[in-house]
Amino acid sequence: MRRYHVTTFGCQMNQHDSERMKGMLESLGYSETDSRDDADVILFNTCSIREAADNRLVAHLGHAKRLKSERPDRIVGVGGCWAQSVKDEVFARFPFVDVAFGPGQVHKLAEFLTSDSLTAQGFFEFEGFTGHLPAKRARDFQAWVQISIGCNCVCSYCIVPSTRGREVSRPPGELVCEVERLAADGVREVTLLGQNVNSYGRDLRGDERASFAELLARLDAIDGIERIRYTSPHPKDMREDVIRAHAELPSLCEHIHLPLQSGSTAVLKRMRRTYTRERYLDRVAMIREHVPDCALTTDIIVGFPGETEADFEQTISVAEEVGYDGAFTFIFSPRRGTEAATLRDQVPHPVKVERLERLVEVIQRRARERAQRFVGRSLEVLIEGPSRTDATRLRGRSRHNKVVNFAGLGSSGDMVEVEITSATSQTLAGTESLLARAAH
Ligand code: 5AD
Ligand code: SF4
Repeated sequence: MRRYHVTTFGCQMNQHDSERMKGMLESLGYSETDSRDDADVILFNTCSIREAADNRLVAHLGHAKRLKSERPDRIVGVGGCWAQSVKDEVFARFPFVDVAFGPGQVHKLAEFLTSDSLTAQGFFEFEGFTGHLPAKRARDFQAWVQISIGCNCVCSYCIVPSTRGREVSRPPGELVCEVERLAADGVREVTLLGQNVNSYGRDLRGDERASFAELLARLDAIDGIERIRYTSPHPKDMREDVIRAHAELPSLCEHIHLPLQSGSTAVLKRMRRTYTRERYLDRVAMIREHVPDCALTTDIIVGFPGETEADFEQTISVAEEVGYDGAFTFIFSPRRGTEAATLRDQVPHPVKVERLERLVEVIQRRARERAQRFVGRSLEVLIEGPSRTDATRLRGRSRHNKVVNFAGLGSSGDMVEVEITSATSQTLAGTESLLARAAH
């Protein structure tokens, strides 16, 4: 039997596209191998969001090159955002690559593998969703659902609009069917994916028209789906109906990832984020009013061109004020073809590093403080497997998306109650409540 190996970089959208690639390869009769050395088809699903991702990819490609020279009948494929951003240049830079394709072109991989073509081929037209392809899920009880592709924003630092094209939403009826099928297949938690997930539906017409909040309500009504999450929303599209949905829909989790990027209105303007510091904080206030216990996480970039010490302090003050439950923090990385890469006043690297360290300190301290609210409470945890640091304990996630390590008797996919006994900035620890188990 022919075997494949996929290496995935980047965001959840890419993780999901990789599941589709795997599902498609299995339907063609390939099976997965854990080791790249054993594979007949070696695939990379790439990311181009920051320079670090490019560098890691190049190191991996070096390994593929060696394997290909040992056995030239092997196929090396490069898909995803980085492939899309360089297009046919892939073949000039890496002549051992047989097939390259953008994020909207996963299905072309199957065409390539089933054709007799021996020449290298690239597929970079924006086309449909991977949603209709078969998927190989990492866990039986969790699934990603791609509700839209592309992005109509023009954030000046971001390469995504050029790698994933204009925004297109999938019709709500089709999504309801997909989630019903997943529920019938044992899925209890779905994460809705979109580059700008909460602008969902604006491009739909006629009978298919639905807002993001309406879609959430329709998915919440599906039996068997106990948790709904989504990522990533844009603060400009975070409307009151969606915030209320978090309070009203039983399966919609108490967690919102609300990318801040910067706390300075002047920087936000140059980033073309279309909201101000005040408007962002208004959204946070609205969330806290309707869903007081809601976990809030964010993305922040430091060292955007022209960011002054005073601008940076504005970011620090938002981080202090909001008290995020967690954050992804990034050093600005100029991406080719983006407006921000051409702006003057690039911030020197040591300054970026120093700001990142200061920001991380505030984020972690506030996250640790926020996490103490869970100590002494009993939280519903969906078990994902053994703890990563201690195989005698279990690991799962609360509805707030907090990782919980605990002593217990459950198995992967079980929903259990855990008494929380301690909390750090990143994780909670506790013991499964066996009384609750007896009552179930
Ligand atoms: N440099 C640094 N961080 C970036 N991000 C997006 N583009 C860049 C860039 N050029 C960050 C943003 C985004 C997250 C996925 O990656 O914070 O929300
Ligand atoms: Fe990377 Fe962005 Fe593409 Fe995701 S959408 S893989 S983060 S470049």
